[in-house]
Amino acid sequence: MSHKPPSPATGEISDFPRRGFMTRLLALVIGGLTGLLPAIPAISYFIDPLTRKKRAVGLSDDDMDPEGFIKVASQDALSEDGMPRSFKVIADMQDFWNKFPDTEVGAVYLRKESDGQISCFNARCPHLGCTVKFEDASQTYVCPCHASAFSMTGERTNSIPPRNLDKLDAEVREDGMVWVKFQKYRAGIKEQVVV
Ligand code: FES
Repeated sequence: MSHKPPSPATGEISDFPRRGFMTRLLALVIGGLTGLLPAIPAISYFIDPLTRKKRAVGLSDDDMDPEGFIKVASQDALSEDGMPRSFKVIADMQDFWNKFPDTEVGAVYLRKESDGQISCFNARCPHLGCTVKFEDASQTYVCPCHASAFSMTGERTNSIPPRNLDKLDAEVREDGMVWVKFQKYRAGIKEQVVV
């Protein structure tokens, strides 16, 4: 059966123009999709974090227990004379796309108290964030940046820092390791605000 040619004289509407339009539209869609194919891996890479709930910027879940404690040091590494000792906090970090294993995320001072309990301070100065040092001779934490000073129990001994050293929860577990709930707090303000 042959198609009728368009007949403007009779006012009859031909389906030829509509078919041409549909064919071009289809070609456009297929062409567009084909062009997108090479970009699919890149698109997946960028939307991947949005589809993975577990990922977030910060410490990797792999190093933390469910309560947020990180293994910091063997209890045998603590001083028996009750003096604080500093330890690096090493953990895996991650951002939306990458993991950074064994990254130094901060430092803490650990001290074995006379009753066997472990006290722990974040070594970050609450003034502007430098790292404080413990001086055995004066039994004082001092900050090399602007001379903030703190007693061995963390209380500020001059008015430079806005608050005491930031105390952190620490405990010795069955594995003989000291686990610390490591947190950083905003410097320069009186209140403890987790960052
Ligand atoms: S950062 Fe420690 S005194 Fe300023």
